[in-house]
Amino acid sequence: MNKEHELGAPPADTGAQAWETIYQADDAGWDLGEASPALMHLINDKLLPEPPQTVLVPGCGTGHDALAFAKAGYECIAMDFAPSAIAAAKKRAEDSVFTCIEADALAADNGVADDSVDIIFEHTFFCALQPSQREAYAVALARMIKTHGEVWALSMRTKFTNRQPYDSTPEEYVALMEAHGFTCIEQTAMEPWSHQRRKGRETLVQLQYQGR
Ligand SMILES: C[S@@+](CC[C@H](N)C(=O)[O-])C[C@H]1O[C@@H](n2cnc3c(N)ncnc32)[C@H](O)[C@@H]1O
Repeated sequence: MNKEHELGAPPADTGAQAWETIYQADDAGWDLGEASPALMHLINDKLLPEPPQTVLVPGCGTGHDALAFAKAGYECIAMDFAPSAIAAAKKRAEDSVFTCIEADALAADNGVADDSVDIIFEHTFFCALQPSQREAYAVALARMIKTHGEVWALSMRTKFTNRQPYDSTPEEYVALMEAHGFTCIEQTAMEPWSHQRRKGRETLVQLQYQGR
């Protein structure tokens, strides 16, 4: 497997088939083989709202982050539209410790009800979308999250503006989300906790949804 794939060839487009092709080729270089170390810091240091809470992980890939939430006592929903990714996540879920949904996270009929999720955890999903999909991303998250629910997003800087992983600043992310009913609670540089390959590039953005 080419573990540096995220700095190598991008998928031809951002549709499900493009991602599926990469998973089938065992070339998902973004897959850390473990939950995000930054997420483990949030869980281990009890910085997230205490369980039981419903957590959605959109663009979950093979489910490492979802498993970490489930093990910590959260009701976790892992969502991805690449069939091989969700199949791997299902295997990881084993005794159904978390729910796996194969669906387009941006679609209104993705299987997650309106106003039903307490926490949305975002890790390498926003940067996987084309910039033209960002409005739809914000609309989708605002639809699924409860009023006063929270988005915990690892905003990541990258080298790329014309292919994934697309670069964005934490400020751009906050501005987008604030235009859709969220307020920013805090931004935290994750350098001490980030994975080696992402050091200095990840900022935790914590947002609360104020309702429609
Ligand atoms: C860069 S990968 C990151 C996966 C995972 N978060 C991780 O860190 O291992 C982006 C993931 O988002 C998924 N994805 C992209 N667009 C999606 C969409 N509209 N709905 C659901 N999943 C999507 C891809 O299939 C892929 O698994």
